[in-house]
Amino acid sequence: MPSEFRVAEFYSGIGGMHFSLKEAGIESEVVRAFDINTVANEVYKHNFPGVPVMQRSIESLPMSLFEALRADLWTMSPPCQPYTRQGLQKGSEDQRAKSFLFIIDLLARVERKPTYILMENVAGFEKSDTRALFLRQLVRVGYRFEEYLLNPLQLCYPNSRTRYYLLAKLDAEPRECPNDAEFPARFRHDVPGASLIPPASDSEGHVDFEKGVWHHDEVRQVKEFMQSLTVEESAPYRLNPRVLEKHGYVHDVVTPESRRTCCFTKGYTHYAEGTGSILQLEGAVGKDDMTLDNTRYFTPREVANLMGFPAEFTLPENTSIRQGYRLLGNSLSVSIVSVLMDYLVRRM
Ligand SMILES: C[S@@+](CC[C@H](N)C(=O)[O-])C[C@H]1O[C@@H](n2cnc3c(N)ncnc32)[C@H](O)[C@@H]1O
Repeated sequence: MPSEFRVAEFYSGIGGMHFSLKEAGIESEVVRAFDINTVANEVYKHNFPGVPVMQRSIESLPMSLFEALRADLWTMSPPCQPYTRQGLQKGSEDQRAKSFLFIIDLLARVERKPTYILMENVAGFEKSDTRALFLRQLVRVGYRFEEYLLNPLQLCYPNSRTRYYLLAKLDAEPRECPNDAEFPARFRHDVPGASLIPPASDSEGHVDFEKGVWHHDEVRQVKEFMQSLTVEESAPYRLNPRVLEKHGYVHDVVTPESRRTCCFTKGYTHYAEGTGSILQLEGAVGKDDMTLDNTRYFTPREVANLMGFPAEFTLPENTSIRQGYRLLGNSLSVSIVSVLMDYLVRRM
């Protein structure tokens, strides 16, 4: 690792990659963060006032700017909509993939290539045509890479968020890749040197992270991540009576004693199903009634805790609750990414 370790954070959002670098204890300077979202950029600047944030589409920026970064590590979490299971899965054909395709192309053109790359995306990316384009380019310009599918449950965080991760290091002989056959779908579920709970897998090799931790009492309980709120403080997190009555049952409901929550997405509180768990503060799920008094949403702070954001992370006062959920839903598991960063930079 060079004494001055320079990092460029593409698609920086609220700084999940930057927090992960700090969590991994990697002495570094984030020389530039890139994102088009004004609200996310405000949160980023609030937490990292010294970092220049560039509010422009990555693909509209001149080559000279990327060259001038002289970054040792490029981190990136490109938009996931082209690859989500719920979406149209148009992959590289999707307009929202354009900036990432630009970065893939940039890797061949930029003279001062980063030594390390860390990329994060939704589970589903691994089946896309963009993956093949990305891998082919990495091999062509001299990177060695490893691909992962990991979930924070494996680190005993009670939050399920399966994501695709790619780590790459510039230490291979560049070579042409005539076809994709040499990119078999082999994804790691462990990180060398880290202690992760392995997922369960069936006879066909399908992995199930939730099943993998069923018998692991060391997965932490939700209550460790909760704020203690007064009645007034919890008021904004109450469910709408109509939602509770009509759609209460479609929510994923957990208690403070639970050892899992489901993935919090940007649609949390807006849609009932598949966007994140709700909390039943008293009684047993499915046995005791959920009432307006004993049921609430997780707060943005609690979602951040479950995703591994440190206590220093804060949202500016003018960020609405809804914006907080949206931004966090788009962000990443700091607990998992810091383990990957540590491995990439120090041991891979
Ligand atoms: C999956 S989120 C990444 C979130 C980030 N890792 C974090 O910790 O918050 C993708 C981000 O890419 C940004 N984005 C999308 N298209 C972009 C483009 N063409 N140029 C720059 N940023 C873009 C979005 O505004 C969004 O914040």
